[in-house]
Amino acid sequence: MALTDFFSNFNLFARWLHVFAGILWIGHLYFFNFVNLPLQASLDDATKKAVNPKLMPRALWWFRWGAMITFLSGLLLFTMGYMYTPGMGFGPSALFSDSSGMTQRAIWILMGMALATLMWFNVWFIIWPAQKKLLSGQAAGEEAAALRSRAALASRINTYSSGPMLYGMLAASHYTAINAVTLLVFVLLGLAPIFHAYKSSLKVGQSV
Ligand code: HEM
Repeated sequence: MALTDFFSNFNLFARWLHVFAGILWIGHLYFFNFVNLPLQASLDDATKKAVNPKLMPRALWWFRWGAMITFLSGLLLFTMGYMYTPGMGFGPSALFSDSSGMTQRAIWILMGMALATLMWFNVWFIIWPAQKKLLSGQAAGEEAAALRSRAALASRINTYSSGPMLYGMLAASHYTAINAVTLLVFVLLGLAPIFHAYKSSLKVGQSV
C-alpha cells in the first residue's frame, strides 16, 4: 500500500528528514570535537581572531538548526509511531504498550530520546547562548573563560551521549529486546568509539 497510503509516505519522509538533520547536527558536533578542538589548540591568538569570527557563526548555524529539525522530526516520528494508530486516532499505540505494559521497543526509543533531548537542550540553552556571547564580544576575562568551559563541557557530554543515543534510535525498530545486559553492552559499545576518536584526534590527519 506504500505508494497510495499518505501516512506511510509521510512517515518515510519524516524519517528521512530526521536522519538527514541528525547527520547535519552530529556531523558538526564531531567536527567541533575531533577536528576543531585540536586545531584551535595549535593556533596562535592572531590566527584565531582572523579565522574564528568567520568560521564559527557559519558552523554554529548549521549545527543548531540541524539539532532543532532533528528534535522536531523526532517528536513527529514518536507521535506517528507510538502515540497514533491509523484509523483509530491518538493515544498509545501497539508499538508503545501491549497487555504486559510498555513494549521493549518503546523502552529503547525512550532511552534514545532522553539522551537526544538532553543533547538538544545543551545545544540551544548552553552551547549556543555561550558562543553567541563569546563571538559577539559581549563577554571578556573571567566571564568569557567560564562560558568557554561551560560550552566545552556541554559539547563533550553531547559527544559521549551521541554513541549510546544512536543505539537507542536504531535498536527500537531493528533489535527490540532490552534488558540490563543488552543495555549495558550497547551503551559501552556506543561510548568506546567516542573515547577512541577523542584520543586519536590529537594525532591523526596532521599532514597528508
Ligand atoms: C533530538 C531528539 C530526537 C528524538 C525525539 C528522536 C526520535 C526518534 C524516533 C521516535 C524514531 C523512530 C523510532 C522507531 O521507528 O521506532 C527515531 C529514529 C531514528 N533516529 Fe532519532 N530522535 C532524536 C535524535 C536523533 C539524532 C541526534 C540522531 C542522529 C543521527 C537520530 C537518528 C535516528 C535514526 C538513525 C533513526 C532510525 C531510523 C530507522 O531505522 O528507520 N535521532 N528517532
